[in-house]
Amino acid sequence: MKISIVGSGYVGLVTGMGFVKLGNEVIFVDVDERKIEMINNAEPPIYEEGLGKLMKDFNGRYHATNDYREAILNSEVTFICVGTPSREDGSIDLTYVKQAAEEIGKVLKEKDSYHVVVVKSTVLPGTTEEVVKPILEEHSDKKAFKDFGLAMNPEFLREGVALRDFLNPDRIVIGVQDERTREILEELYQPIDAPKLFTDIKTAEMIKYASNAFLATKISFANEIGNICKKLGIDSWKVFEGVGLDHRISPHFFRTGIGWGGSCFPKDVKALINKAEEISEEPVILKAVVEVNERQPLKLIELLKKHVPELKGKAVGVLGLAFKPDTDDVRETRAYAIIKKLLNEGAKVIAYDPQAMKNFKQSYPDVGEKIVYSESAEDVLRATDFVLIVTEWGEFEELDYSGKIVIDGRRVRAAEKNAKIYEGVCW
Ligand SMILES: NC(=O)c1ccc[n+]([C@@H]2O[C@H](COP(=O)([O-])OP(=O)(O)OC[C@H]3O[C@@H](n4cnc5c(N)ncnc54)[C@H](O)[C@@H]3O)[C@@H](O)[C@H]2O)c1
Repeated sequence: MKISIVGSGYVGLVTGMGFVKLGNEVIFVDVDERKIEMINNAEPPIYEEGLGKLMKDFNGRYHATNDYREAILNSEVTFICVGTPSREDGSIDLTYVKQAAEEIGKVLKEKDSYHVVVVKSTVLPGTTEEVVKPILEEHSDKKAFKDFGLAMNPEFLREGVALRDFLNPDRIVIGVQDERTREILEELYQPIDAPKLFTDIKTAEMIKYASNAFLATKISFANEIGNICKKLGIDSWKVFEGVGLDHRISPHFFRTGIGWGGSCFPKDVKALINKAEEISEEPVILKAVVEVNERQPLKLIELLKKHVPELKGKAVGVLGLAFKPDTDDVRETRAYAIIKKLLNEGAKVIAYDPQAMKNFKQSYPDVGEKIVYSESAEDVLRATDFVLIVTEWGEFEELDYSGKIVIDGRRVRAAEKNAKIYEGVCW
């Protein structure tokens, strides 16, 4: 099929390249000229395992543009993959989704053949039908489910293993109303061997929020138990190994530590809280899940101060800035709160991350401009005796931590084995 992807970030680019790999042709649309140029040079604008090779191998089967008209007229299906960030009050910001819908609608007006628009961005229940559909209809002068197709297909990929997740998902959820759209999406996803769940549109939207809210809850729950374990001298990782063996529970997402960050959980949980309150439902659990998560990174500083009570003037090493390993994404990274607190205490911060230093400096200039970036993790260890582990990059397992005081938020076994003094946040 010929597919257009509107918004060529983590989700759009991975989805599009996944479809290319499955034999389709893809046109990427973005407003960011730098991304367009890089994609057209077969260079990935984000760091994601396997993406660079795929872009080189399939060069010629995709291209990028800022021209919606060219993209929509030359494709049969359009996926909306633009960002849906949080506003200051936690509510969802639909500016980019609305812009995309308007631009797509304008082109649909002049298109004769049937076209399907699929919302892949994470949007609150009701958004596709109550926000996207009216905009598309207004600007196209056409009727959804009759003159053009409309569907909602949430994405569950994990950054770091995004391509693998896209091509081998646990499930594909497709919210549809009309038969024709359903058939087209069934055909498009036919090569992927995974359970396909067809629902109505707002159910598909809710499945994404319920999934993310549950995963965030699982981690905050584990961390709350982990904090109790720490005080009782119990290794919470062993506890959750035991808990996870229960087939009703599953062992995944039970790793205790300094909490969740990233581009999805924080904003999605907040958006769901905001929506619940808007409709007069008190989201008691979800609020607690966020509260536990906000406190968790600061546990690392509390533990450091047990060993180094006065941080003023001390150099403290921070290993990891990305919100998780194998990505350069720093959105809502735990590193921010930790470094901010260290600077407030008067410490000098020496940080290293294999991929995310540039993004961190740009995204958090208030702290990012005030720290020293190292060339390597070894340099951090050479420069200071106090080390905080914030992201569990594989290469941090290869370091020699002997002689160091290490406070570990992620459980790096080499540090646990070799450090002079070692403290795990929940173990
Ligand atoms: N990142 C993830 O792991 C992940 C996983 C599942 C779902 N999601 C959801 O997918 C959506 C996209 O997330 P992301 O992480 O890929 O975001 P992103 O910020 O990496 O990418 C969004 C892209 O959209 C572009 N854009 C903005 N406005 C545009 C417009 N009017 N027209 C064309 N392009 C425009 C931006 O330039 C950017 O390249 C969000 O709703 C997110 O919640 C993300």
